[in-house]
Amino acid sequence: MALDNGPTMDQILGWCKRRGAIFPSSDIYNGIAGFFDYGPLGIEIKKNLKDAWWNSMVHQRGDIVGIDCSIIMHPAVWKASGHVDGFSDPMVDCKVSKMRYRADQLYFAKITVAGELLGYVSVLEDENMQSEAEQQADKLKRKQAKQGTLDPVVLKPYTEAMPGEYALIPSPATGQPGSLTAPRAFNLMFQTHVGAVVDDSSVAYLRPETAQGMFVNFKNVLNTNRLKLPFGIAQMGRSFRNEITPRNFTFRSREFEQMEMEFFIQDNADWQHWHQYWVQTRFDWLKSIGLDEKRLALDVHRPEKLAHYSRACTDITFHYPFGVQELEGIAARGNFDLTQHQNASGKNLEYFDEAEHRSYLPHVIEPAIGVDRLFLAVLCSAYHEESVENETRIVMKFHPQIAPVKAAVFPLVKNRPELVEHAKQLHQKLTRHWFVQYDESGAIGRRYRRMDEIGTPYCITVDFDSLEQGTYTLRDRDTMEQRRVSESELMTFLLEQYS
Ligand code: GAP
Repeated sequence: MALDNGPTMDQILGWCKRRGAIFPSSDIYNGIAGFFDYGPLGIEIKKNLKDAWWNSMVHQRGDIVGIDCSIIMHPAVWKASGHVDGFSDPMVDCKVSKMRYRADQLYFAKITVAGELLGYVSVLEDENMQSEAEQQADKLKRKQAKQGTLDPVVLKPYTEAMPGEYALIPSPATGQPGSLTAPRAFNLMFQTHVGAVVDDSSVAYLRPETAQGMFVNFKNVLNTNRLKLPFGIAQMGRSFRNEITPRNFTFRSREFEQMEMEFFIQDNADWQHWHQYWVQTRFDWLKSIGLDEKRLALDVHRPEKLAHYSRACTDITFHYPFGVQELEGIAARGNFDLTQHQNASGKNLEYFDEAEHRSYLPHVIEPAIGVDRLFLAVLCSAYHEESVENETRIVMKFHPQIAPVKAAVFPLVKNRPELVEHAKQLHQKLTRHWFVQYDESGAIGRRYRRMDEIGTPYCITVDFDSLEQGTYTLRDRDTMEQRRVSESELMTFLLEQYS
């Protein structure tokens, strides 16, 4: 089936703004790049996503336990993990505009006509960069009044430029060559100081991933729980990266939440099997919470693309409005982290295998996903615009488990106290179990549209028959069909949907 275009980024941003799902952080001060706040509706969706992950990874399994570690850890953790020396992106500065770019996201091309050099063009990585570079090349050719056909415009990342080319490639900010520096490594960890003395000895870092908390607590968890390999330790929480170019809304931000799980296996286990198992399990879970299957795909990393700790990695990608991007990574980390921490701390982190009468460092498979990226993928999957009775209906088709509001109760009209009273009582009963809203303002049709736009799966209307017969109109968000149900049928139905 062909992939439809889906919502645009403008539609998603418009929805978030209108419905108060996500705000720029410190909005009244014009925001701060790479930081966001979740509003009343957004936090409900985010909480539902985190609960769904925790349920599937911890509560519904007997072999995974959870932990919650501090954000600031001993700096030796980050030295041992390789982050102090290696967690960097190549950065390039424009000395004139003071703009900074990621050198692997800045592309350039040498422009020639029949092999004769006209100059260079530069573009920032995005879906349209090839056509933008071709337009720039055409402009360059016209400026130089060159006859003949342009040779193909071949884009290369700035990291692949030759030292002599840095001065020739125009800055994307000014369009002029001569101001871009050579790329240099920029460490992404945010630094802070612990205690009253601010010097090299008090440097600490905000964690750039939650994963290391699981490794340094491996023995604590093992010694206090009756666990046998294979088993996992899961954590969700904030991570911080001083991204050079935060972009695409919450997709690449500087403060974000991760949900990560380290699955420890025997050192001689079939790690490819476990890697595949987790790729499939995570893919299935993403589908089960309502992500559009047509937008999901797998990207198996080539060996040269692997992170320093990884022996294999498969990304689950999502087709966002700005292109196909990593949503979740499933990495086979070998025993890299436990080895590093055992060596650096001098503490024995081995597992004693009773069945095999030997001790060893287990190997690890790690599924790691960002909550904010998942949130964005959920919005892109849920957003629909439909034509209904000559109007555009905006409807968020959230999976019921993820929907921020589970149901809404309306009295048919608000000027009949007996209807209002009955509806409020029903609302009270339902809120004991779920987040249910009460709404009495405006025509019923308008109230349905408001609930459709925030993705409320069911609306319940209290009318005069409700008073006499104890039945309600139950309306389905997706089909817009209505049916009469008794109170006990209603409760059974909602329990089935939300259990
Ligand atoms: N422990 C492994 C690890 O942290 P990663 O691929 O760097 O691996 C895991 O991060 C997930 O965290 C990513 O797949 C993505 O969903 C999310 N993530 C990473 N950087 C992010 C950022 N700057 N903003 C939002 N989410 C991010």
